[in-house]
Amino acid sequence: MLDRTAGTLEGKTAVVTGGGGGIGRGIALAFASHGASVVVAERDADRAAETAGVIEKNGGRALPVVVDVQDRDAVERLVSATHDEFGPVDSLVNNVGDYLRISKPFVESTEDEWEALYDINFRHVMRCTQAFLPGMLGRGNGGTIINISTIEAFRGIPNCAVYSAFNSAITGFTKSLAIELGPEGIRVNAIAPETTETLQVQPSRWIPDALKDRIPFWTPLGRFGTPDDAAGCALFLASDLSAWVTGTTIHLDGGALAAGGFYRAPDGSWTNLPVVTGGGVGGT
Ligand SMILES: NC(=O)c1ccc[n+]([C@@H]2O[C@H](COP(=O)([O-])OP(=O)(O)OC[C@H]3O[C@@H](n4cnc5c(N)ncnc54)[C@H](O)[C@@H]3O)[C@@H](O)[C@H]2O)c1
Repeated sequence: MLDRTAGTLEGKTAVVTGGGGGIGRGIALAFASHGASVVVAERDADRAAETAGVIEKNGGRALPVVVDVQDRDAVERLVSATHDEFGPVDSLVNNVGDYLRISKPFVESTEDEWEALYDINFRHVMRCTQAFLPGMLGRGNGGTIINISTIEAFRGIPNCAVYSAFNSAITGFTKSLAIELGPEGIRVNAIAPETTETLQVQPSRWIPDALKDRIPFWTPLGRFGTPDDAAGCALFLASDLSAWVTGTTIHLDGGALAAGGFYRAPDGSWTNLPVVTGGGVGGT
């Protein structure tokens, strides 16, 4: 029978990059409330302190570390600070990522933009993983690595081909590294969110009030994601609940990928012709 403590992170240590805002903050708070000591590895000092403060106020253990994961030296300092405070980590969550508001036809994109998108979406995933791995391997006690990509690693996104490409790279990296580290008991998985209300993505502000009543019809589960939705998936992947899960991605998307272009019309029928608002045209 599954042990009822399988979902706990009691006695574990986790690092969450970008842990001061949005999805990363949600994961940091959830990990702490389930028993982990959490390193909030965050570029913004105020956000790092705020998240760590909430954790400590709730009786948890947290270490805020101000770090830009795009800076190799800073990541090395992050590893030292983490090891000094808590020792080698059990879980690394590579959460930082951003489309940098670069949305334009690929033909107009520049190599500088490709470089920036690479740095913020994929290079640091390899860098932080390589920086924390020796400690994880050294103690010989397994561990988990969780990479946050995007649903757009699995579905196309117009005008963001480069962002999508580097997030697809996370999928490949996750699979291959999982194979390599399986014999060490280190599990590597990813989470691919659809639109989630955060600092970076704010559908509550972007969608006019007059259209908000349409939100329930856009995805099967009828709402956008929250940082807590991502935290639940991360908790599953970091804990023994997922002891036999590695090399895969959770599509955290309210069913959007499965729907693949099918929408519910206000009369409850389904259509793959978004302009058709009823009558079942396009398949009900
Ligand atoms: N929110 C969404 O709808 C959505 C959808 C798909 C994928 N994602 C992915 O989820 C992850 C988190 O996104 P979010 O929306 O929560 O972001 P966010 O912008 O709301 O929060 C990111 C946090 O990371 C910090 N940060 C940014 N760059 C950093 C750096 N170089 N070093 C250290 N910290 C840094 C920021 O200060 C901020 O606190 C990203 O990888 C993003 O691509 C988000």
